[in-house]
Amino acid sequence: VESMKELPSGAGKIPRLNAVVLGEALASEEDDLVVPSEDFSRQALVSSPQQYLEMYSKSIQDPAGFWSEIASQFYWNETWGSEVFSENLDYRKGAVRIEWFKGASTNICYNALDRNIKAGLGDKVAIYWEGNELAQDGQLTYKELLEKVCQLANYLKSVGVRKGDAVVIYLPMLMELPIAMLACARIGAVHSVVFAGFSAESLAQRIVDCKPKLVITCNAVRRGPKTINLKDIVDNALIESTKNEVPVGLCLTYENPSAMKREATKWQDGRDVWWQDVVPTFPTECPVEWVDAEDPLFLLYTSGSTGKPKGVLHTTGGYMVYTATTFKYAFDYKPSDVYWCTADCGWITGHSYVSYGPLLNGATVVVFEGAPNYPDAGRCWDIVDKYKVTIFYTAPTLVRSLMRESSKFVTHYSRKSLRVLGSVGEPINPSAWRWFFNVVGESRCPISDTWWQTETGGFMITPLPGAWPQKPGSATFPFFGVQPVIVDEKGNEIEGECSGYLCIKNSWPGAFRTLYGDHERYETTYFKPFAGYYFTGDGCSRDKDGYHWLTGRVDDVINVSGHRIGTAEVESALVSHPQCAEAAVVAVEHEVKGQGIYAFVTLIEGVSYSEELRKSLILTVRNQIGAFAAPDKIHWAPGLPKTRSGKIMRRILRKIASGQLDELGDTSTLADPGVVDQLISLSDC
Ligand code: WTA
Repeated sequence: VESMKELPSGAGKIPRLNAVVLGEALASEEDDLVVPSEDFSRQALVSSPQQYLEMYSKSIQDPAGFWSEIASQFYWNETWGSEVFSENLDYRKGAVRIEWFKGASTNICYNALDRNIKAGLGDKVAIYWEGNELAQDGQLTYKELLEKVCQLANYLKSVGVRKGDAVVIYLPMLMELPIAMLACARIGAVHSVVFAGFSAESLAQRIVDCKPKLVITCNAVRRGPKTINLKDIVDNALIESTKNEVPVGLCLTYENPSAMKREATKWQDGRDVWWQDVVPTFPTECPVEWVDAEDPLFLLYTSGSTGKPKGVLHTTGGYMVYTATTFKYAFDYKPSDVYWCTADCGWITGHSYVSYGPLLNGATVVVFEGAPNYPDAGRCWDIVDKYKVTIFYTAPTLVRSLMRESSKFVTHYSRKSLRVLGSVGEPINPSAWRWFFNVVGESRCPISDTWWQTETGGFMITPLPGAWPQKPGSATFPFFGVQPVIVDEKGNEIEGECSGYLCIKNSWPGAFRTLYGDHERYETTYFKPFAGYYFTGDGCSRDKDGYHWLTGRVDDVINVSGHRIGTAEVESALVSHPQCAEAAVVAVEHEVKGQGIYAFVTLIEGVSYSEELRKSLILTVRNQIGAFAAPDKIHWAPGLPKTRSGKIMRRILRKIASGQLDELGDTSTLADPGVVDQLISLSDC
């Protein structure tokens, strides 16, 4: 934890969780409180702090009882043994291990589709699909979705995909993306969805790591006014992966005719197959592969402090129970809801809360292919009205970008269907929270500010709308079964009003089980910093009423528009540029994106800085990672502030980047303190 950032300030006092229940502590801060309306609370699944606390206490005192009762609402082909879960979070006592419902067999696709159809939801709309252009749309009922999933599952089996095999999916937000995920799950294959904004190199890296039987993609996508040729990116990735001795012999390509015609698509005979030519020829029924609750469901790569992305591995049973339950409670889900989450299935939010969580609940989900500001800033509300969306879940960065436009874009639409709003990806600043609440939700819809991570599988700290008075910007209280603790540098739990590092002291069903192929890194990154705990990488403070306030990453991860990017990844992309000798990347505050990427770059001897070089450095990052990771600022650095042992002092770089020059602190331990003045003088270059 040496490289961690300074903690936010805050003082330790007495715990006051009970005071909230009694309502007394709240009186002092009335201005900051948003109390759910009586009407809302009355109909809510959890309608008071007392009810929450009763359920929460039960989940902590008897996790096995609490979760097995919930789990029994799902279909299990065989049930678990005497032990509902077993865990060891303390590496000093042996290998870290988390298991839920082990020995039971089930299938998450069966539970999401067949089970709901058997319960009478066959003709209910599972997915409303809205394309990039206004008039483009489609829909699938649960029964139709199952048929599509089965056809693809049968195709996958016909080309030799078996239980445990990896399948890489590189698709935009077409219905085919959740279809592909569910088809893999149906036959026990492990999907690895790669966000279709990643570059060929990043895609190749993920292919090389998990060695898939095939890649599923589409030829192109329209995003706003742009056409993106995804197939070209995949072609390049496959050349790259072949060089790394992972040749992939099959590329199933969906033709997305509104973006690009077949004829215009580059093709490699023998390897490339059109989805539309083969998949519809397969039967619409496909038997289910029953898998152990602890068999892997998917891999999803995410950024960490070091260069190589980590393959977060989730298993089946616990993830299923957890995503379904968190979805239901955090959004106060009712069967009549129409739910829209703006996240892409390429990220964990799209896995847990576009696909699995809502479908397991038999919900109607909106899947949107396009960009939220196209053709104009009113698109989201147009979609809300068109499908009568009741639950709208998005990221603070989108809220902030829409907030900058005239509120006429919002008020032009009715939005009267909305009843719950949600936020995810980064801390939501109180002014964005208020705009979201007052303008979008007309002060009628509670906001679930859900804190969680790729690793946690589902919500960890989140309001239950209807239960709690809300404080704009606070994720409030832990979900059932989750015991968050705040620890100091030494790993001691701190009580009451305080701030420190956020850890979790127990396992929960949706927790990731390992990093693919690297259990040691799993232990080192998450369980060794504070022995006995899962370390989240986030800072957190708790106020006098017991509310949690997430304060951002304390490690070298930057959160740009809710996308996790490791500073080391950007640095290694920059130094791969032939004219770059060294690079150090830090985060700076950004009005819309939350955080921006600020790169200090040292050039090789004899090369001088130019605008052209700046552009070419940025292009290198775009090509190696993806456009979303492009630095916002390149700062020319003849030298970097280093300790005598050669360690870059990022603390100083962060201050320079944010212009806090009077807070540089002690620079005397630097090998060459002169570099600091030099950097400051070059700030505006
Ligand atoms: C941040 C996204 C504050 C946090 C689900 C976490 C948040 C990282 C919130 C995980 C929130 C996510 N409030 N911070 N409501 N939600 N974060 O893995 O820093 O892409 O560690 O998962 O996003 O990002 P990831």
